[in-house]
Amino acid sequence: MATQKNIRFGAIGCGNAGTHRIRLLAGNALGLDVVAAADVNPSRLDNLADVLGYDFERYTGAQDYQRMIDENDLDAVGIFTPHTLHYEHVVYAIEAGKHVLIEKPMVCGAAKAMEVTRMLEKQGTIGIVHYQRHYMAPFHKARELIRKGKIGEVTGFFVYMAQDWPGREWRGDPEFSGGGQLNDSGSHYQDILLWMTDLLPKSAEGNLDNYYQGDLKKVEVNGSFNVELSNGAAGRILILGDILGGFCDDVRIRGTKGDLMMSTFHGERLLLRDNATNKIEDIPLSMPKGYPACPCDNFVKLIRKKVKINRVPFIFGVRVATLTDCMLTAARTGRKVTCDELLAEAGASLKDLA
Ligand SMILES: NC(=O)c1ccc[n+]([C@@H]2O[C@H](COP(=O)([O-])OP(=O)(O)OC[C@H]3O[C@@H](n4cnc5c(N)ncnc54)[C@H](O)[C@@H]3O)[C@@H](O)[C@H]2O)c1
Repeated sequence: MATQKNIRFGAIGCGNAGTHRIRLLAGNALGLDVVAAADVNPSRLDNLADVLGYDFERYTGAQDYQRMIDENDLDAVGIFTPHTLHYEHVVYAIEAGKHVLIEKPMVCGAAKAMEVTRMLEKQGTIGIVHYQRHYMAPFHKARELIRKGKIGEVTGFFVYMAQDWPGREWRGDPEFSGGGQLNDSGSHYQDILLWMTDLLPKSAEGNLDNYYQGDLKKVEVNGSFNVELSNGAAGRILILGDILGGFCDDVRIRGTKGDLMMSTFHGERLLLRDNATNKIEDIPLSMPKGYPACPCDNFVKLIRKKVKINRVPFIFGVRVATLTDCMLTAARTGRKVTCDELLAEAGASLKDLA
């Protein structure tokens, strides 16, 4: 009996995140070969070959990702490059008919994110965004409880994330960052709010500053926003890069019947407070049987038709890109900005994000 050929995979950007994702993909039991990789820094390709234990076709020019895609008969492409480059990389890969795994933030800007999502839909290929929290028990369980109506109608939220974030290398360069910390680690927190609640972003108003330990950086480091979601729920999103010490977060979702709370201060736990009794319940955490382990696993299993559900399709990338764009524009203009006005640029509206 003929054996199935391994998936032929090519990577664009083989730095920290890229190398980690590529190693996971290459180790998937369903079979994936890294046949080519592009990085403008050749030492990253040397390191990747060491990590994999085998070599591949190498591309090192800034536009060489195009030749990599054209020359290697790839099935799938991974995009792990600085934020503002994602757009040209993903457009080329989609046009070439490749399945795509792309790091967050998918593409910067509401209109461009909508454009690439429509392109992918037309091609009918697989596209998945690397938001790994969709595969983590506290967030997954919170989404499930909200969907089951456990906290009633969502009326409010508080989303806080702080990280010692100096904006090193390209992250500190406006040409590549696409919106500083709000667009970097902050992207995950916008995503889990929208994903857990299954609501769309409607408007934002707030402020950003570029200070890190007293130094004025070229990109946005700290942000505080009042955000409104499609059902009228309103709340605060606070994303800070200027904190002494390590990473911490605190996410609370308020509903008509109770609150869900998860935070690094509580550890790996999900707490449910009941409005009627004010009692706090520690929710047991587990993932459903057969749920993919991570975005890389989901990607390979989708290509191999071992699972049917894409847990982070591109539409989640558009929702987040729209909210990020809305917050950035609000801070830059000093006014309340609606997502609809940004989506209009792509001939779209909120209903296209559903
Ligand atoms: N999901 C997560 O938790 C998570 C964590 C870290 C990083 N990321 C994301 O991964 C992406 C990369 O971040 P990183 O931390 O790995 O950065 P990095 O600097 O370690 O890696 C980026 C790589 O892209 C390469 N590169 C730059 N321009 C290129 C081009 N034109 N063609 C090919 N390669 C090019 C760089 O040389 C570098 O090796 C970003 O989108 C980032 O937000 C996600």
